[in-house]
Amino acid sequence: MKIGIAGIGTVGVGVIKIIQQHTQLLNNRAGVNFEIVAVSGRDRSKNRAVSLDGMTWYDNAVELANDPNVELVLELIGGSEGIAKDLCFAALEAGKPVVTANKALLAVHGTELAALAEKKGVSLNYEAAVAGGIPIVKAMREGLAGNSIHRVYGILNGTCNYILTEMEETGGEFESILEEAQNLGYAEADPSFDVDGIDAAHKLAILTSLAFGTPVDFDSVYIEGIRDVSALDIEFAKEFGYRIRLLGVARRTSKGIEQRVHPCMVRADTAIANVAGVFNAVVAEGDFVDSTVYEGRGAGEGPTASAVVADIVDIAAGRTAPTFGIPVEKMVDIPKVPVEEHVGCYYVRLTVFDRPGVIADVSAVFRDEEISIESLLQRGRAPEEAVSVVLTTHEVKEASILRALSKINEFDHSSATPRMIRIASL
Ligand SMILES: NC(=O)c1ccc[n+]([C@@H]2O[C@H](COP(=O)([O-])OP(=O)(O)OC[C@H]3O[C@@H](n4cnc5c(N)ncnc54)[C@H](OP(=O)(O)O)[C@@H]3O)[C@@H](O)[C@H]2O)c1
Repeated sequence: MKIGIAGIGTVGVGVIKIIQQHTQLLNNRAGVNFEIVAVSGRDRSKNRAVSLDGMTWYDNAVELANDPNVELVLELIGGSEGIAKDLCFAALEAGKPVVTANKALLAVHGTELAALAEKKGVSLNYEAAVAGGIPIVKAMREGLAGNSIHRVYGILNGTCNYILTEMEETGGEFESILEEAQNLGYAEADPSFDVDGIDAAHKLAILTSLAFGTPVDFDSVYIEGIRDVSALDIEFAKEFGYRIRLLGVARRTSKGIEQRVHPCMVRADTAIANVAGVFNAVVAEGDFVDSTVYEGRGAGEGPTASAVVADIVDIAAGRTAPTFGIPVEKMVDIPKVPVEEHVGCYYVRLTVFDRPGVIADVSAVFRDEEISIESLLQRGRAPEEAVSVVLTTHEVKEASILRALSKINEFDHSSATPRMIRIASL
């Protein structure tokens, strides 16, 4: 199996290391010999920490895809548009199987790419694109094939999970922990893709398609990142018996499919609440299997390359499956439910002046919106100063909570915008 690797950064180098170190093992498992015959990058003079001797270098990755000597193309560049997209389409068009780690590309063009792969009768594999080293794509596509999936959710971004668990352990605020994460290499210089929830949303869009057999629909994912989570929220979460995690949740409801990424309060005794640091975890729930949990490293050279190599072995061994579990023509475009329709419990933190009548006014707004309060806590007493009033609700539609918070925000008593975090029912 002659392989061409486009992109020889963190993941590409990891793949070369595995293929060079485990040559015999991989050959035994796949039943064929692997050979990396071509590579492509931006800067040929860069020191790569692996030997590229004997491999043809391409400045243009699309040319690598069209090299007649290359039988299998790895796209390890990244980005939903540009060269990564062009080279995947070119390779599939040329009838070559493709392995990619690129969640952004699949979230935006996944269905189109899958259709082309099917038309050409070749595999498009992407295990590394969702939760890095965790073999969740294979589990969903093959291991759980006997089930109708009703919900899949998880911690899909290690950077966010590291920040939230560090905030929990140290009591620090988001900005300072983010800076620390950047110094340790757990967060990018521009962290927005991670902390604003976009990376997790890319992965969730792919999981949704795998779970429910729908075309990938990134645009309908509701996305909220972790920038607004404060040390105070984390402290209150502990008091209520919760931890805060950024979850991606895809769920089938009677009205359609919910796809949402946002910080969640999760009960401290659940598996997901105990996933700490840069780890990822996914929970998939099927009608016959019940709940299944997968945990591991969601990023980094070794774990990500491990997933890429597993895809290569599958292709070489002739194990194939439709890209998203079912052929594109069998996919059904199930309606997506807007987040305002979500029904759940909520944590609300108000910052209000400590005056007589405030709680009565807040309660009246909640009564008018038919929101039932489960618990209410006021921290401290400081006449005429702003204090936190924290409450949790019973199940209610999100639209009602949003209307209530907007009314409370207009109060003279309010000294800061109310904060709301969804409580996950796991
Ligand atoms: N890193 C992870 O932990 C991880 C985890 C899961 C998924 N992924 C995904 O894996 C993919 C690769 O990520 P990475 O972390 O390995 O990225 P990276 O370290 O930045 O490497 C990107 C590689 O692409 C090459 N490249 C950029 N533009 C190119 C172009 N126009 N033509 C040819 N080559 C080009 C770069 O070349 P130069 O080296 O010459 O600059 C570099 O070798 C992305 O889709 C990412 O989302 C990464």
